[in-house]
Amino acid sequence: MKAAPVDVLRGELLADRFRIPTPQPATPAAMAEVVAELVAHFAWSGPVGCAFPGVVQQNVIRTAANLDPSWVGVNGSEIFAKAIGQDPSSVNIVNDADAAGIAEVEFGAGAGRSGLVLMVTLGTGIGTAMFTNGHLVPNTELGHLILDGQDAEETASARAREDSGQKWVEWAPSLDRYLDEIHRLLWPDLIMLGGGVSKKFDKFAEYLTVATEVVPAQLQNEAGIVGAAMAQVRGLG
Ligand code: BGC
Repeated sequence: MKAAPVDVLRGELLADRFRIPTPQPATPAAMAEVVAELVAHFAWSGPVGCAFPGVVQQNVIRTAANLDPSWVGVNGSEIFAKAIGQDPSSVNIVNDADAAGIAEVEFGAGAGRSGLVLMVTLGTGIGTAMFTNGHLVPNTELGHLILDGQDAEETASARAREDSGQKWVEWAPSLDRYLDEIHRLLWPDLIMLGGGVSKKFDKFAEYLTVATEVVPAQLQNEAGIVGAAMAQVRGLG
């Protein structure tokens, strides 16, 4: 779990990110304690935007594929606000890929692009954020497309590559197959690849054959934090 104060007008962090390992099990109470530590680290008393790796509707967590299942049904802003001693109205939670996409579309690889733009984050899971002419369609969960009988996350995420010890050239076809399926169903004008692997884009880009423009995200690790803050200020979510 990581945090930083954000200049939402420039899309920049105002201080280095501060990171605390996600508690295990990643329950609401345990994560709320970490949120309190992160906020205290920056002596922050202003509004708080959070990016959460699951479906989030009006601050209520609906799925938590890679966190503790007890999150489902919990109002995240209420529990985090209580932990930091603020009013729930000052804590806003959105999906993590949506947050990263919001920042990328405004300040990064998607800036100035029209049509259907898709952010795909490759990490522990696969997150997606879909934009039509700059407007977010929230909570798309295209990382869980079923491909060849398997959740795409199981083969095309960064974790899938790491866990299986695959080289880039061995993993790239799984990613390509996944992006092809996205292309077949949605015909995006641009796909931005985010997550840690965006830094390694050169290692696998040449193996991608999908008939859509694919570019690495530019804000990298900062996109989720910047976008979460932007979503809070814009009242998205
Ligand atoms: C979740 C998404 C999330 C993605 C990246 C997936 O398992 O279902 O909501 O955006 O992981 O964290």
